[in-house]
Amino acid sequence: MIDARQLTKRYGDKTAVDGLDVVVKPGTVTGFLGPNGAGKSTTMRMVVGLDAPTSGSVTVNGSRYARHRAPLQEVGALLEAKSIHPGRSAYHHLRALALTHGIPRRRVDEVIDIAGLGAVAKKRAGAFSLGMGQRLGIAAALLGDPQTVMLDEPVNGLDPEGVLWIRNLLTSLASEGRTVFVSSHLMSEVALVADHLIVVGRGRLLADTTVENLVREAGGDTVQVATEDPGRLRDVLAGPGVEITGRIGSEELQVTGVSAREIGLKAAEHGIPLFELTTRKVSLEQAFMDLTREAVEYHGTTTGTPTGTSGTWSGSTSSTTTGPTTGTAAGTEAAETLGSPA
Ligand SMILES: Nc1ncnc2c1ncn2[C@@H]1O[C@H](COP(=O)(O)OP(=O)(O)OP(=O)(O)O)[C@@H](O)[C@H]1O
Ligand SMILES: [Mg+2]
Repeated sequence: MIDARQLTKRYGDKTAVDGLDVVVKPGTVTGFLGPNGAGKSTTMRMVVGLDAPTSGSVTVNGSRYARHRAPLQEVGALLEAKSIHPGRSAYHHLRALALTHGIPRRRVDEVIDIAGLGAVAKKRAGAFSLGMGQRLGIAAALLGDPQTVMLDEPVNGLDPEGVLWIRNLLTSLASEGRTVFVSSHLMSEVALVADHLIVVGRGRLLADTTVENLVREAGGDTVQVATEDPGRLRDVLAGPGVEITGRIGSEELQVTGVSAREIGLKAAEHGIPLFELTTRKVSLEQAFMDLTREAVEYHGTTTGTPTGTSGTWSGSTSSTTTGPTTGTAAGTEAAETLGSPA
């Protein structure tokens, strides 16, 4: 377990981490998300005592890192994968770590196996590719068989097979009851493996929630409907929790709060012909961008278009809204939708 209380880190007048209050629980994979410079790595460095908090505190498995008698057996961390002696082999790198921490030699062989490094274990680590270096870093993090595993951008540089391997590894570590804390700035990547999400922006906590809740808060899935009689369909579907948007004069409506199945049944019941009935899954990437839009410090200069069907999103400007926006007034302009084709 990782417990941060009002955790704050300043570098000069730059506040990298700003009063962070979070608990990372065991038995689940927690994704740590935020745009570049949000303070993820700084937070992780403070967990393992590589940086001292300016104020506040953070403990891991109930104690400050420095207080643990055998820290490698408490928390394994991957921070800078390439912090290895380039002339040493993977095996000797791990063996040296094990020796200085009272970890038996057989555990070195075990983690080499887990990380899939068997074939290159005797090769100089300096000659390793990015992905191999990443695997070695993960092997080192697992060396002490720690209760808490913390990985900073672990899939960086991994090929698809490596990404899949990491996903399975994280899930199995969590199912063994361990605390698994893994950072990324890619929502799509984290959503596949994490059950819980901690989102930060400019050092501040933006969300501490489950993937499921985030989808719901983002407005849930949208159903795209095209019909001969949008006015009547609106009346038929109207009800609590139902939001319908669509352009005046258009046959298309975007509906949230009712499933495609229910819409189809109601339309049939009232004899309203439908031309299209498509469920659009909410885009987590878009939800993440909406959540962090104001907190993005480093904007690109090109203008991007989201995967959603309508609305524009500029990569170079920040909008004044944070949460997701969904139009509610009937018959008005189509609102920005969060949906993307499934
Ligand atoms: N040693 C340092 N000295 C000065 N500023 C620092 C230092 N380390 C981090 N920062 C600043 O603190 C902020 C947070 O950085 P951090 O590396 O924690 O972000 P991050 O969320 O890990 O970003 P990324 O996704 O790019 O890895 C940044 O603005 C960064 O420039
Ligand atoms: Mg970082």
